[in-house]
Amino acid sequence: MTLIRPPDLLKPLDRAFALEAVRVTEAAAIAASHQIGRGDEHAADQAAVEAMRLAFNSLPIEGTVVIGEGERDEAPMLFIGEKVGQGGLAVDIALDPLEGTTLTAKAMSNALAVMAMAEPGTMLNAPDTYMDKIAIGPGYAEGLIDLDAEPGDNINALAKAKGCKPHEITACIMDRPRHEALIAKVRKSGAAVRLITDGDVAGVIACTDPGTRMDIYIGIGGAPEGVLAAAALRCVGGQMQGRLVFRNDDEKARAAKWGIKDLARKYGLMDLVAGDVVFSATGVTDGSMLKGVHRVGDYLTTESVVMRSATGTVRWIRARHARGG
Ligand code: FBP
Repeated sequence: MTLIRPPDLLKPLDRAFALEAVRVTEAAAIAASHQIGRGDEHAADQAAVEAMRLAFNSLPIEGTVVIGEGERDEAPMLFIGEKVGQGGLAVDIALDPLEGTTLTAKAMSNALAVMAMAEPGTMLNAPDTYMDKIAIGPGYAEGLIDLDAEPGDNINALAKAKGCKPHEITACIMDRPRHEALIAKVRKSGAAVRLITDGDVAGVIACTDPGTRMDIYIGIGGAPEGVLAAAALRCVGGQMQGRLVFRNDDEKARAAKWGIKDLARKYGLMDLVAGDVVFSATGVTDGSMLKGVHRVGDYLTTESVVMRSATGTVRWIRARHARGG
C-alpha cells in the first residue's frame, strides 16, 4: 500500500472534512428514514444511495469508491471504482448508505448510514463476500484475542484482562444458523450472548463502548462491513481481526479481481485500514449508539458520530434540519 501524499499535507484538510463528512451520512439517513417501517428494503436502500451520492458530489474531494454498492455492472450508483466529488483532495471511500436495510424496512433498531474516507490505497478492497471477524474495545494488550483461538479461550483471556469472571462477559453475535456452534461454545464458556439480527458495523462498534455492556464481537458478517467497522475502530481504539470467507469459486474470483492473492489471510486492524481515516455514521432508526431520524414539528433531527484516526477525536453531532431544506 502506498501513500500518495505525506500525511502532514492531508491533516489540515482532513480536519475540515471530519465535519463535512457528516453531511453525507446525514443526507443518506434522512432519505432512508422516509422508508422506515414500510417493508420495502430496496426502496429504502435506493433512497439512501441516491442521497449519499448527491452529498458526496458536493464535497471538494476527488473520491474513489473502494467499498460500495457492488460492482459496476450490478450497481448503477456508488459502485466500486466510481469517482465522486467536485475535485480536490484524493481520498478512497468505503460506504454503506444504509447499513441495515431489513432493520429499516421493519422499523427495527440500529440501522445506520455509514462511510469512511481514507488516504488513497490504505483500505482493503474487500470483495462483497463474508468475513469472519473478532473485535474488542481499547485498553487491552495487543494480541489478547485471536480469530483462530477457541471462543472459550478468547472469552477467558478477555475476562482475565478485565479482572472479571467469564460469566460477566457478553459476546455480540449475529443471529444466523451458521453461528449455531459458535453460540454454543461461547455459552459453554460461561459468557452471555447478545444476538443481533442485522447490522454488524454497529455490533462491532458497540463492543468498544462499556455502556453497551457488550464486550466482544465474534462471527461471520459482510466483508465490506468489516472494513467499515475497522475504520471506526481505528478512530476509537480497539482490536479486530478478520478473514474472508468464500462460498464458491465466483466469490474467490471476485477477491482475485480486487488484487487479493492470499485468500486465507488473517487481517489485523491495520491491514483492513492502514491510513488516516475519517469515519461518520448517522442513525436511521434508534439504536444503542445513535438516535434515528425524528420528525419534530417542522424539522427533522439527526444524531451522528464523526471520528478521525489521526487525533482520536470523536464528535457527536445532533442536528436539526428544515424539512425539504
Ligand atoms: P444490509 O444492510 O446490506 O442488509 O446488511 C446488513 C447486514 O446485517 C450486515 O450488517 C452484515 O454484515 C450482513 O448483513 C450479514 O449478512 P447476512 O444477512 O447474509 O448474514
